[in-house]
Amino acid sequence: MNSQRIALTGAAGSLAADIIPGLLARGHSIVGIDQRLPADTFGCEFVDCQVNDREALLEALRGCDAVIHLAGIPLEAEWADIMRANIDGTQAVLYAAQRLGIRRVVLASSIHSAGFVPVPTDGTLVPDDVGVRPNTFYGVSKAAVEALGSLYHDRYGLDVICLRIASRFAEPTGERTLSTWLSPADAVRLFDACLQTENPGFRTIWGVSANTRGYLSAEGGAAIGFRPVDDSERFAERMFAASDTDPSLLASDWDRAYIGGVFSSVHPPLFGETTTDRNNND
Ligand SMILES: NC(=O)c1ccc[n+]([C@@H]2O[C@H](COP(=O)([O-])OP(=O)(O)OC[C@H]3O[C@@H](n4cnc5c(N)ncnc54)[C@H](O)[C@@H]3O)[C@@H](O)[C@H]2O)c1
Repeated sequence: MNSQRIALTGAAGSLAADIIPGLLARGHSIVGIDQRLPADTFGCEFVDCQVNDREALLEALRGCDAVIHLAGIPLEAEWADIMRANIDGTQAVLYAAQRLGIRRVVLASSIHSAGFVPVPTDGTLVPDDVGVRPNTFYGVSKAAVEALGSLYHDRYGLDVICLRIASRFAEPTGERTLSTWLSPADAVRLFDACLQTENPGFRTIWGVSANTRGYLSAEGGAAIGFRPVDDSERFAERMFAASDTDPSLLASDWDRAYIGGVFSSVHPPLFGETTTDRNNND
């Protein structure tokens, strides 16, 4: 096993909480970085700073072998906030990695960088490197994250893997996510594969489990040694039974049309908004 010292931004977030214990169990050491204190540091070093604080970030990343960059706003929000956290923040991380000679960076992109790509109806799979079709300001920011990764690879030779994470939840949350689910355990496998693979160059890769109903290619993941083992199908029967009393579990017209689902509508879910807010807004 190739154990590395990893700087992990967004360490107080929910994806971080899913993957940190698994990465520690695989022998990596982690320096967590976030603008807020995590509920649990899992015994890792923790640095309390914004990624936009370039001097503090340089200090936090010093001595690390790789960076996993998760910090950012994970849903639709005001343009100025998205731009600062997701675009400026990612440039700051890549700049610091390049300055410090850290050769490997894993960036959290999203299915929403290509959210307006139509759901295939002919059994084909959406390739890992399908062109960007962002469905929100959030999706635009993730397209910019990918573009920045590409720039830092081509200009400075960094290895940059952009993970187009689909729907990472403990369980699928509805019919759409039977196709797009990424299980927490597969998320660990995916991030570890990104750290272990040799000379990946620049890539975009779907972050998705081995779902029977999946329509996102598994080729990009396989090429870096990612072997997902979870399949949402084991939740399908229970989910469809529950849809008798909760029809919102069933795929909407947006979910059937575009891989970004309801994010591709003119009322995408907003960061910090509750389901009740949405029902009131709609
Ligand atoms: N379902 C998913 O988990 C999913 C799907 C697609 C993409 N992603 C991406 O994965 C990443 C993590 O998602 P998450 O679900 O854990 O989100 P989250 O909101 O739970 O965690 C994000 C963390 O980033 C921190 N953060 C935000 N801006 C920061 C800044 N400027 N400096 C330092 N810290 C900052 C926040 O404090 C928070 O702890 C995000 O980039 C998100 O867009 C997640």
